[in-house]
Amino acid sequence: MSLSNTQRYTGLIDRYRDRLPVTASTRAISLGEGNTPLIKLENIPRLIGKNVTIYVKYEGLNPTGSFKDRGMTMAVTKAVEEGSKAIICASTGNTSASAAAYAARAGIKAFVLIPEGKIAMGKLAQAMMYGAITLQIRGNFDDGMQLVKEVAAEAPVTIVNSINPFRLQGQKTAAFEIVEELGQAPDYHALPVGNAGNITAHWMGYRESTAPADQQASNRVAYQPETDSFSGLTTGGKLPKMLGYQAAGSAPFLRGGPVADPETLATAIRIGNPQSWHHAQRLMKDCGGWFDELTDAEILDTQRMLAMYEGVFCEPASAASVGGVLRDIKNGKIAEGSVIVCTLTGNGLKDPDTAIQQCKDAVMLQIDATLSQVKDGILSNM
Ligand code: F0G
Repeated sequence: MSLSNTQRYTGLIDRYRDRLPVTASTRAISLGEGNTPLIKLENIPRLIGKNVTIYVKYEGLNPTGSFKDRGMTMAVTKAVEEGSKAIICASTGNTSASAAAYAARAGIKAFVLIPEGKIAMGKLAQAMMYGAITLQIRGNFDDGMQLVKEVAAEAPVTIVNSINPFRLQGQKTAAFEIVEELGQAPDYHALPVGNAGNITAHWMGYRESTAPADQQASNRVAYQPETDSFSGLTTGGKLPKMLGYQAAGSAPFLRGGPVADPETLATAIRIGNPQSWHHAQRLMKDCGGWFDELTDAEILDTQRMLAMYEGVFCEPASAASVGGVLRDIKNGKIAEGSVIVCTLTGNGLKDPDTAIQQCKDAVMLQIDATLSQVKDGILSNM
């Protein structure tokens, strides 16, 4: 017996059709993205001895293992609707994986520009497996982004980086889900920041979802960050303070301008020239949140802590959100009693190399395949 569409979750475009720039007849290119778990941390708050409620929004459980799928379902749906036969992006890895998958689903071509030697192995495997045409450039993400903009002016390809406004429209739905689940926005929402597209999208989503109900459905693209034309609709509900955490070697928002040679082990956010710079500056002023930076060591420590104490395996960049929040709780910037949501943007399986590198002290025994040696291995480690 098959389930009807009302019972099956069929992706975020179907779920939020009335709040996205699509029509009833738009054919959604979907892989069932969105609807990700909001997991309450149970052990880490106790370990740090603070009375705070921390949820992680585990975006690593999207179809290609990152939040990019929320934006990509919209970007590819609109590209196909507009007759495009090919998409293109620059990427630190996740966007390329997602673009490749949704292009495969749509039956169009994907071209992806990635910095040679600087993307995690799982992401490269995805782009290749989904059949993208991969252009490894001897340069970084920022170089790739510049080239994508230039080539799109000369070749028939649709850019699906977050400068494509439909990307942010899809990504805003993460905030809708959080408001639905918690009944209101949290006090703080923390994200790792690279191009600052996702933090912008979340702010849009919170502003739209806390607007009075009668104004939501009628405003398909309610909040326009370019003009802040959503002003006046937000009298309804509480808004969170947005917190953006960067890797110290790639922290243009902390330096006050572009960084020429960004470097970090968290390769997903190895970006020196954020594409949503102005949106992010603007929203930080509006929400009263802040940017901060973490060293690679802090990022990796937090990644391991989440895995070992909560059973949640995210990729390094994602851990910056939780690492920053834990530090700001300890130093009192975030008060006890607060409700905090941290986005875990990507799945830990994306980057097995970095994970294994930092688990050199993990217990791993080489033994003979005998009962006595297995038993010794257990009893000596109880
Ligand atoms: N976390 C992960 C895992 C990412 O892949 C990215 C961006 C970010 C955070 C930052 O999000 O750019 O919206 O501020 N990855 C892009 C890519 C750049 O190409 O996959 P942002």
